[in-house]
Amino acid sequence: MKIGIIVHSQSGYTAKVARLLGAGFSKRGDDTETVLLRTVGKVAPRSTSFEIRNAPAVEDYDLIILGAPVWAFSASPVIMKYLGQLGRLTGKKVLCFVTKALPFLWTGGTQALGLMEGELALSGADILPGEIIRAPAYRSEAKLRPVIDRIVAACTA
Ligand SMILES: Cc1cc2nc3c(=O)[nH]c(=O)nc-3n(C[C@H](O)[C@H](O)[C@H](O)COP(=O)(O)O)c2cc1C
Repeated sequence: MKIGIIVHSQSGYTAKVARLLGAGFSKRGDDTETVLLRTVGKVAPRSTSFEIRNAPAVEDYDLIILGAPVWAFSASPVIMKYLGQLGRLTGKKVLCFVTKALPFLWTGGTQALGLMEGELALSGADILPGEIIRAPAYRSEAKLRPVIDRIVAACTA
């Protein structure tokens, strides 16, 4: 299976999850590519005046994993802009995840994941159950392991 793992990450935690996911899929023999979205222009919560410098095309992927930090009770504007640029995804599996620092799911996690999945709702993709990954678990590879295993299992079921 060809897998694209496409994330926005400012301080590195979402990127760390992406790296561990890439390793998890590669161990199964899948062909993975990870892209960290980069921007031109400063980005803050709810920014719109920036461009994505390296938005990858997704035609070649069977499975697309999209990750982002929660920013101000929403998904980062970078991932939302990227999702808005994606066209039809018919026949592809897509799984979204978010990382967040505050402990409760209702402090932006559920909302951010809902916004990402909502943006994909009309794409024709098969949207797999997403994940909300909270601090402090994401600071430890050992604590991330069950999350990584769960995502890999959900994507290959
Ligand atoms: C501008 C900004 C806004 C944030 N807002 C929230 C929030 O509403 N809820 C939350 O749980 N964490 C919030 N965080 C914390 C990040 O979601 C968290 O640290 C995330 O894992 C960072 O991911 P990254 O290291 O990939 O950038 C915010 C962080 C930043 C920089």
